[in-house]
Amino acid sequence: MSRYSAITGWGMHVPEQTLTNADLERMVETSDEWITTRTGIKERHVVRPDESAFDLALPAARQALERAGIEGKDLSLIIVATVSYDYRFPSTANLLQHALGAQCGAFDMQAACTGFLYAMSTAHQFIANGSARHVLVIGVEVLSKVVDYTDRGTCVLFGDGAGAIVLSASEQPGGLLGYTLGSDGANPELLYIPAGGSREPLTEEGLREGRQWVKMNGAEVFKFATRVMGTAMEEALANAGMTAQDMDLFIPHQANLRIIDAASRRLGLPQEKVFVNIQKYGNTSAAAVPIALCEAIDQGLVYPGAHLGMVAFGAGLTWAAAVVKWTASVATKPTARRATPITVTGRRS
Ligand code: UT7
Repeated sequence: MSRYSAITGWGMHVPEQTLTNADLERMVETSDEWITTRTGIKERHVVRPDESAFDLALPAARQALERAGIEGKDLSLIIVATVSYDYRFPSTANLLQHALGAQCGAFDMQAACTGFLYAMSTAHQFIANGSARHVLVIGVEVLSKVVDYTDRGTCVLFGDGAGAIVLSASEQPGGLLGYTLGSDGANPELLYIPAGGSREPLTEEGLREGRQWVKMNGAEVFKFATRVMGTAMEEALANAGMTAQDMDLFIPHQANLRIIDAASRRLGLPQEKVFVNIQKYGNTSAAAVPIALCEAIDQGLVYPGAHLGMVAFGAGLTWAAAVVKWTASVATKPTARRATPITVTGRRS
């Protein structure tokens, strides 16, 4: 008998505190106009000094369990996609397992911004081979703690947040229909944190030089992203025996509105099929896709039978895409509406 992997629960959590473009204008030489037209971002949520990845992931996870109608003890596995682990070890998943009262394996994995789709695909394997019934998959990041707030090329982009799903075994056709994972590790320095790992442990000199902060070659990552978002999505669709025209909603990684637009154009998608919430959260890395999924559901854009396309790219470089046929019942009714429209130079009307 086939075992399908269906999303049965979903939840999200972002910190209360926001960092607006006006705030950033006071911190670095930038402007609301530059940030809005070049990225689509208006504000992002950032943690307090005492908040960690665990603190964001826990409420998102609880919400997802509640929606799935299960408790922590029903989980077969917990996978957390993050580069913002609470401790080098043990894993954040391990902390969550205890807090949720789960009695199962738990591990962190990372593929940077692509992490959630890597984790969801991994969860699917456990379900498909019969060794898991309910898997909690979380994407969570606290990038505000590793971003250099004197570097205008990166600090305007990133925000903190968590998104979670419960992926459950199902006999009903649907759920995760196809996916693709990709990696090209030739140029890690395009987007990385140089120090703090085994290659370059943190030293006083390294700290003085700011080698503990995110470094990025934005233009190169931009070029890569505009290329890979469309091709990865097409590959996952082909693996599911579908084309872009079969997608009811495209939920891309929220890194830059211009990248989202380029990918949507390549896929021939009208704006109303493309979900965008980057204006509110910035790039929350591994949390971006599950947060976008939660908000798309809240806005009534997801309904039983809908085909959702999800795609992400990130440091590594890495990329992944997945096609999900939605099966869970949702409280809201579908409406042909997209996230708050925002204006970006060159954006199609
Ligand atoms: O999940 C993956 C994470 N990373 C990404 O997705 C990043 C992808 N890349 C990007 O989104 C874009 O490359 C950026 C938004 C980072 C930059 O936009 P851009 O249009 O590629 O700008 P640029 O890097 O080519 O810089 C253009 C100018 C430069 O000034 P000069 O050299 O022309 O005088 C930059 O110094 O814009 C300047 N600039 C800024 N100006 C005001 C860069 N950042 C800022 C800023 N405010 N925040």
